[in-house]
Amino acid sequence: MSNPNRQSVIIKGVGSYAPPKVVTNDDLSKVVETSDEWIRTRTGIRERRIAADNETTSDMAAKAAQEAILNAGISPQDIDLVIVATVTPDMPFPNTACFVQAKLGLRKVPAFDVEAACSGFLYALDVAEGMLRTGRYRNALVIGAEKLSSITNWQDRTTCVLFGDGAGAVVLSVVDEPGVGILNTMLGADGSETGILCVPGGGSASPSTVETIERSLHYIQMQGNQVFKIAVRVMCNSATEILNSTGYTADDVSLVIPHQANNRIIEALAQRLEIGLERFKINLDRYGNTSAASIPIALAEAHRNGRMKKGDLVLMVAFGGGLTWAASLIKWQ
Ligand SMILES: CC(C)(COP(=O)(O)OP(=O)(O)OC[C@H]1O[C@@H](n2cnc3c(N)ncnc32)[C@H](O)[C@@H]1OP(=O)(O)O)[C@@H](O)C(=O)NCCC(=O)NCCS
Repeated sequence: MSNPNRQSVIIKGVGSYAPPKVVTNDDLSKVVETSDEWIRTRTGIRERRIAADNETTSDMAAKAAQEAILNAGISPQDIDLVIVATVTPDMPFPNTACFVQAKLGLRKVPAFDVEAACSGFLYALDVAEGMLRTGRYRNALVIGAEKLSSITNWQDRTTCVLFGDGAGAVVLSVVDEPGVGILNTMLGADGSETGILCVPGGGSASPSTVETIERSLHYIQMQGNQVFKIAVRVMCNSATEILNSTGYTADDVSLVIPHQANNRIIEALAQRLEIGLERFKINLDRYGNTSAASIPIALAEAHRNGRMKKGDLVLMVAFGGGLTWAASLIKWQ
């Protein structure tokens, strides 16, 4: 029998998928009153990917997951657990992970979704790690996937310029070696701020009716300024807390993978943590904010570009609607 104290949970494989359709800031300026200059200087976003009308969140999730399984060097039949983080499920139910399980032809293993908005991937990572540590599962597929274009009001310039579609995935595996892989993950939430970033309609509080649709309640609503201020504070606090909890300092971190929402938020975080921006993975210029997909897409890209080597400390940090926040520190394997 293996000793759980001598085991670690590592990221064994990564993958991502972005739909081919690119929508530039100039394209958006033909739809709403905005400009490339405004979007670039306020957010850092230049373009985003938008899914095809018939392309679902689970389609994108399955593609990212396929790459992660291949990258992990295991067979789809080795997957024991599927968790999808998303705010844009294919349907209210069944959950998106069940669609992914079927699309990939996986065994009849547990499959469910986690919803913590843009922090969702790190929440799902923590849930999966906990389940793997019970000893009942060996390999988990953890996916962040979003079709935010399906809940974006394309007539609202204050939100439609920010979001994009895509998916990222990791295979988490138990290894018989202590002190590697996920060192710690810390999650938090403040439910007193549910109203500043939400989709108010379509749930049990306000089921879809002609009136809710006419009032655009099925789209993302956001108080950008307030979200901005809180985001900087909570990301900084959770990054600091996770470093303190593991005894590392900012100097030890090789790469920070922040949730990709706004360049100015990332710059403020870098400044407060005193970590140079060259140690941050930033790709929101090409993808915009893809919510739960943003960190795993950036992680897969960083891996592809050779930005992580064995032993590197990788800090992932997120915030999102809820409000929720999360940070995870990983010793790369
Ligand atoms: C949304 C955000 C970019 C707006 O930037 P800002 O500097 O706060 O801008 P403001 O909201 O104060 O708006 C400034 C002006 O620009 C206008 N504006 C808003 N969106 C615009 C756009 N796309 N193009 C041109 N002008 C725009 C506003 O109407 C406002 O005009 P006014 O002064 O005449 O009223 C910024 O608040 C932000 O990124 N917040 C965080 C959002 C976020 O990360 N959400 C996801 C969380 S996971």
